[in-house]
Amino acid sequence: MTKEFKRYTVTSALPYANGPVHIGHLAGVYVPADIYVRYLREKGKDVLFVGGSDEHGVPITIKAKNEGVTPQDIVNRYHGIIKKSFEDFGISFDIYSRTTSETHKKTAGDFFKKLYDKGKLIEKTSEQYYDQEAKQFLADRYIVGTCPKCNADGAYGDQCEACGTSLSPMDLVNPKSTLSGSAPVKKETKHWYLPLDKDEEFLKQWILEEHKEWKANVYGQCKSWLDAGLQPRAVSRDLNWGVPVPVEGAEGKVLYVWFDAPIGYISNTIEWAEQNGKDWKPYWQSNDTKLLHFIGKDNIVFHCIIFPSMLKGHGDFILPDNVPGNEFLNLENDKISTSRNWAVWLHEYLVDFPDKQDVLRYTLSANMPETKDNDFTWKDFQARNNSELVAILGNFVNRSTVLTQKYYNGKVPVLGELTNFDKETLAELLTFKEKIESSLESFRFREALKEAMNLARLGNKYLADTEPWIVVKTDEKRVETIMNISLQITANISIAFEPFLPFTTEKIRTILNIKKQNWDNLGSPNIIPAGHNIDKPFLLFDRIEDTDIEAQINKLLATKESNAANCKAAPAKEECAFDDFMKMDIRTATILEAERVPKTKKLLKLIVDTGIDKRTVVSGIAESYNPEDVIGKKVSILINLAPRNIKGIESQGMILMAENNKGELSFISPDKNFPNGSEVR
Ligand code: 2FM
Ligand code: ZN
Repeated sequence: MTKEFKRYTVTSALPYANGPVHIGHLAGVYVPADIYVRYLREKGKDVLFVGGSDEHGVPITIKAKNEGVTPQDIVNRYHGIIKKSFEDFGISFDIYSRTTSETHKKTAGDFFKKLYDKGKLIEKTSEQYYDQEAKQFLADRYIVGTCPKCNADGAYGDQCEACGTSLSPMDLVNPKSTLSGSAPVKKETKHWYLPLDKDEEFLKQWILEEHKEWKANVYGQCKSWLDAGLQPRAVSRDLNWGVPVPVEGAEGKVLYVWFDAPIGYISNTIEWAEQNGKDWKPYWQSNDTKLLHFIGKDNIVFHCIIFPSMLKGHGDFILPDNVPGNEFLNLENDKISTSRNWAVWLHEYLVDFPDKQDVLRYTLSANMPETKDNDFTWKDFQARNNSELVAILGNFVNRSTVLTQKYYNGKVPVLGELTNFDKETLAELLTFKEKIESSLESFRFREALKEAMNLARLGNKYLADTEPWIVVKTDEKRVETIMNISLQITANISIAFEPFLPFTTEKIRTILNIKKQNWDNLGSPNIIPAGHNIDKPFLLFDRIEDTDIEAQINKLLATKESNAANCKAAPAKEECAFDDFMKMDIRTATILEAERVPKTKKLLKLIVDTGIDKRTVVSGIAESYNPEDVIGKKVSILINLAPRNIKGIESQGMILMAENNKGELSFISPDKNFPNGSEVR
């Protein structure tokens, strides 16, 4: 039996306030959360929808430094822009606050203190890199050096992008601070850790056994974290931007951004309660509250493992009932990237397509990356608008209301005797509620939207088959019934689409001159009484022309060109003696076999014919090539590189690759059919 909940607390990931929001944010997190919340509200549920900006973390301090302003200036700027974008797109938060608020500082500090006082945190001193010029400890991503495994330069303190090895800053050879360029020194520092390992058994039981219903992508990621085993996680940082660690001896230390951010959901609830004369506690502490976190896939571990461990350690809070995490949205077959400006920014969209919020909401919902990464293309956007919103939804609503105006001066006619076809249509109308509901309840929003669109299709089919414009010439009574049924379907549409297209359903209600309806009316054949006057119809959607779409595509192409123009080749390395170069034995070779190295994103295990022997090489190329695509490739290989153990596999040599500024790789292949083993000099 499914549990009945008295209230719902729905959170959506707090976006970092260091840039505006784009379509990827909307499709991944905010539209799905908003659809769900609007549906619950239509059902008359007690629901609280919490949002806000995530205003701490190192990247914000770096951005501020680069611009010569304070971190507070940065977050003030973007918090405003983000908040407005959400309002513009109808994301119906009950509260949208920020983690630099006083309430949050207190709530997050108290939360830490409670864990600390209960002995739920481990205190540990360790050596970390410190930049003496910048006078600060360095976050992993702000240290670069040479990879100890593959010797590539520019490896980060947490990972070498060239060979895919996970690193810690201390592993780097010749580490350099990206803040000052100087070599950092090791310095002791004390931090507090959340002992996740102690919660491993609990989390395994709670997620893997008791929440098998979670989305497969979310469940799968949790399972691989739990299978790999959990380690204590530091929840404090040496930084001067964030919530101060509220214990003695912690001067200059703040809470780790991923510790304070999810507590922001609670802080913002407290603010909402204060502003609205409510009690915040039931929304976070009552067992009859259903807590849901809407997030993107990069946030899964934080919401499914770390935050629940914090909540449980604290003791006063409920745990999430579900964490509907989505995958990522790509744009025109390329990853959305803020730094490459490869994005459709929400505030820019509205300048180019004013008043078309719902067209974007519709396209993003129809393409929502629910189970895998998905692609947004401008052509698809145009097609969805012209062939679905205009041709199906808009067309039906327009015909039913325009004909009512024409035949009855806007007065809803009486429902007369029903034909079999009328009865079948009304019987079908009755089926939508359950179908849409079951899709929404299990976070299958694409499916739910498709069903809602089928309701508009039903309306079109009804009009096409009954042909009131012909029947009107012979049987006026019959037309009254046809138009009454058409208007009831239109009113049903205003209910079914409310979660998805709130601006459009508002317009439909204006035309029909009706109030917002309850979800339970969905399926009803008598929402609008006979004799009721509807308003003057207007078009809900208009066609988007090729020129509008070409302009958007050209804008993106211009971005690509300007990125390419700005892309400078990496500076030349130091001089190298000819003899040193000649020590390298590089040969042409052919890849015979290829497979992915389990639990890695970048590595392929290759069997290579070098002309001398057949050997195994582990190569960090899996993000540029699929295993099946490289079999048979002619490549160049450094064969006298000392063997290295990579992920438990002995790699005998290195395949040479060229890398462009996007990090894409290309083989260095002979352009003639030379035999394997030919020397490369
Ligand atoms: O990934 C992000 O954009 C984070 N700022 C999300 C934080 S979600 C929550 F914990 F606040
Ligand atoms: Zn490496």
